[in-house]
Amino acid sequence: MLTQDEIKQLVANQAAQLVQNNMTVGIGSGSTVYWLIMELGKRVKKGLLFQAIPTSKKTAALAAQQNIPLAELNDVNAIDLTIDGADEIDPNLQMIKGGGGALLQEKMVAAASRELLILADHSKLVQHLGNFPLPLEVIPFGWKQVQREIRESYQVEAVLRMQDDQPFISDHGHYILDCPFQQIEHPDILTYELNGIPGVVDNGLFVNMADLALIGFPDGRTETMH
Ligand code: A5P
Repeated sequence: MLTQDEIKQLVANQAAQLVQNNMTVGIGSGSTVYWLIMELGKRVKKGLLFQAIPTSKKTAALAAQQNIPLAELNDVNAIDLTIDGADEIDPNLQMIKGGGGALLQEKMVAAASRELLILADHSKLVQHLGNFPLPLEVIPFGWKQVQREIRESYQVEAVLRMQDDQPFISDHGHYILDCPFQQIEHPDILTYELNGIPGVVDNGLFVNMADLALIGFPDGRTETMH
């Protein structure tokens, strides 16, 4: 039986083979994508030529260490393929992301991509989204106002994400509120409503964005979801 980390490596290695010469590829964030970057680094060493658009400072640093050429989203017209992880995936490929706090840049890169491939181990599969607290990226100014609004509208107690006793700061200088919705019936409606609250920059629901998900299992099987 494979460990969770071995499953992540398995799906990441398979996905890395999809990257071809001259492609522009969005590279997600997180522990699954870590293995993707490692495998792409090996392929670059053997002569693969492509450019990567990173979705976080951490991913940019890791990719640079592996000598993967980086480009800015502003400098490309389109992204051929983005490969990223997820925190929850439902049967319709709707997702919660942002466990690592990189949701804003991940969503912008995904939106600019012709294809979005999600990598995950089987533990990320759920029937309904919401058990994983939904990350909301908010402007630090007046964040308690957003928290109050979430409490009054949804009876959900949003928690300010902390790191080393200080509020966690996203790559773009924002706070993250983790919102335990428990069960999200209509991700399409919720994402629209949440992004309408003044002070919310974006939320971690990725609705109708993923084209494919490659899921790994402890027995070494992988399955593609469409
Ligand atoms: C980062 O902000 C997230 O959206 C990640 O994509 C997500 O948390 C998956 O990460 P793991 O691969 O570490 O589970």
